[in-house]
Amino acid sequence: MSHLNFASDLVVGLDPVRFARVAGIEPDDWQARLLRSTAPRILLNVTRQGGKSSTVGLLACHTVLYEPGALVLVLSPSERQSKELFRRILATYRMLGRPVPGTAENALSLELENGSRVVALPGKEGTIRGYSGVRLLIIDEAAKVADDLYRAVRPMLAVSGGRLAVLSTPFGRRGFFYDCYQDRANWEYYEVPATACPRIPAAFLAEEQRAMGALWYASEYLCEFVENINSVFTYADVMGAFTSDVAPLFAPAESVAAAVGPITPAVRPLFALEAPPAEEFRL
Ligand SMILES: Nc1ncnc2c1ncn2[C@@H]1O[C@H](COP(=O)(O)OP(=O)(O)O)[C@@H](O)[C@H]1O
Ligand SMILES: [Mg+2]
Repeated sequence: MSHLNFASDLVVGLDPVRFARVAGIEPDDWQARLLRSTAPRILLNVTRQGGKSSTVGLLACHTVLYEPGALVLVLSPSERQSKELFRRILATYRMLGRPVPGTAENALSLELENGSRVVALPGKEGTIRGYSGVRLLIIDEAAKVADDLYRAVRPMLAVSGGRLAVLSTPFGRRGFFYDCYQDRANWEYYEVPATACPRIPAAFLAEEQRAMGALWYASEYLCEFVENINSVFTYADVMGAFTSDVAPLFAPAESVAAAVGPITPAVRPLFALEAPPAEEFRL
């Protein structure tokens, strides 16, 4: 770990992996790939404690130092969490010896002499003002960021052609993070379960699984989008309850409508589609 000398350490500017090493982190393979990536859309589905925030924080720091005039935005479910990632970016910047001098610094933003800025955003839509010229937009803990917030910030990339990094551990089959996952073919997608993280011991994982249950474990540590954890039935159980082996409860709607009243769209699936042999159904 040492201070960064801008004049002599040009190679560090060219290679964010070397930059990470100077900042004291030897990146895992996927972290190195991410740091060197130039993809405009990056999606991280990574275990709790896998190193998402650290890696993207390093990327943010590298971007503002080496791309003059870059605006990096950090968004999380709450201002407290945005600040936390911002503080880590700030800590890296300080630890490197402030290689580009700062011109303004507070709890939510850092401005550098080269015209670059990092800004931590609050987690409420009404309080986010528009930014333009965004070079990198980071959405941390994305599964818990509200959909309206996501819709509010995405247009900030429109004109600048900036990059978007969306990172999270899954939190059920809902919200934009799940939608992004479904659409992952259109992203540079990273999936890292805890079992692939060298810093998370197998014994710890076994204990977590025992203590917290299979669903929660699969979501927090295995990158799996399980049904909402607080729902009564599991997705697999509900889907398993549908079978074509069992005859529908009622006869075809058209043939019984007179007896049962209007067949609304809500009850329509309870009725058979075609007229079956008469003896199979009793009303
Ligand atoms: N490549 C690495 N080498 C050593 N420590 C790392 C590495 N990547 C992450 N860490 C450490 O692991 C912990 C979890 O990282 P963090 O980025 O907060 O994970 P996440 O955001 O995925 O929960 C932090 O203490 C971080 O410093
Ligand atoms: Mg994190």
